[in-house]
Amino acid sequence: MTKELDLNKTLELAVGWAKQVGEIHLSHFRKNDLDIQTKSTVYDVVTRADKEGEAFLLAAIQGHFPDHSVLGEETGAHAGHSGWRWVIDPLDGTNNFSQGLPIFTVSIGLQQDGETVLGVVYAPRLEELYTAVKGGGAFLNGEPIRVSAKTDLAHAVLGTGFPYDKGINPDNNIPNLVSILPHLRGIRRMGTAAYDLCCTAAGWLDGYWELNLNLWDMCAGALIVEEAGGIVVSFRENRGVSIIAGNPAMVELIREKIH
Ligand code: IPD
Ligand code: CA
Ligand code: CA
Repeated sequence: MTKELDLNKTLELAVGWAKQVGEIHLSHFRKNDLDIQTKSTVYDVVTRADKEGEAFLLAAIQGHFPDHSVLGEETGAHAGHSGWRWVIDPLDGTNNFSQGLPIFTVSIGLQQDGETVLGVVYAPRLEELYTAVKGGGAFLNGEPIRVSAKTDLAHAVLGTGFPYDKGINPDNNIPNLVSILPHLRGIRRMGTAAYDLCCTAAGWLDGYWELNLNLWDMCAGALIVEEAGGIVVSFRENRGVSIIAGNPAMVELIREKIH
C-alpha cells in the first residue's frame, strides 16, 4: 500500500516542473551548444537538454517526495521506500530536437503500485500541455479532449515510429508499415511517442502503434489516451513495450494488420 497523495495538487507540481523543463528545451533549441552524443546506436542521440531536463526533474521529485522511486531515461532507476514511482522522459523526440524540428516533449508519469495515476506531456515549442489524472478525464491546455470516433482504416491517419535498432534487426516495424499503409488515408511519424499518444488522445491522430518503446516513452501518454476515452493495448511480449492506441474499434483494425 502507498501513502495517500492529493493527485490534483501533485498534478499542479508536475505541470510546473514540465514547464520548467520546457524552458530548458527552448534555451537550447536551434542553438549550437547541444553537445549531441550517441547512445545505443548511431540513431539514438542525447543532448545537453536531455541531461539538464532529467537532472532538474530528479532533483524536483526527490526534493518534494524523498520516499518516491524514479525511473528516468537518462539516469535509470532510483529506488524509494514507497509504492509511488515517477516515470520520466526529460526530452521525448531528441532526434527532432537535435535537427531543429519543433515537435518534442517532456513526459512525466506517476504510478501508484504499478498503476499510472497521473500524466503530463508538454510540448514547449507548440505550447501544448496535455494532462490527466486517473478517473478525471484528459485535457489539452485545460480543455477536455477525446479520441477520434472513426471506425475504418480508409478514413484514418495513424502515427507510428521505428526502433533505434532498425538497421540491424529485421523486426523493425517496416513489415507492418507495408501491410497497413495501403489501407490508410495517411501515416505520420511524429518522432515522439509521448506526442503520438497525445495526438491520439486529442483525435488529431486516429490511432497509433509502435514496438520496442520504453516505459518512459509512453507512461504518461497512455493514461492521457485512456482518460480521453481510448484504450492502449500491448500487442507483443517479446519487443520492449509494444502498444496500439486509439478507440477500441480502431485498435482492433490496427491489430488485424500488424504483428
Ligand atoms: C524516442 C521517440 C520516438 C520513438 C523512439 C523513442 P527519445 O524517444 O519517442 O518517437 O520512435 O522509439 O525512443 O529517444 O526521443 O526520447
Ligand atoms: Ca523517449
Ligand atoms: Ca528521451
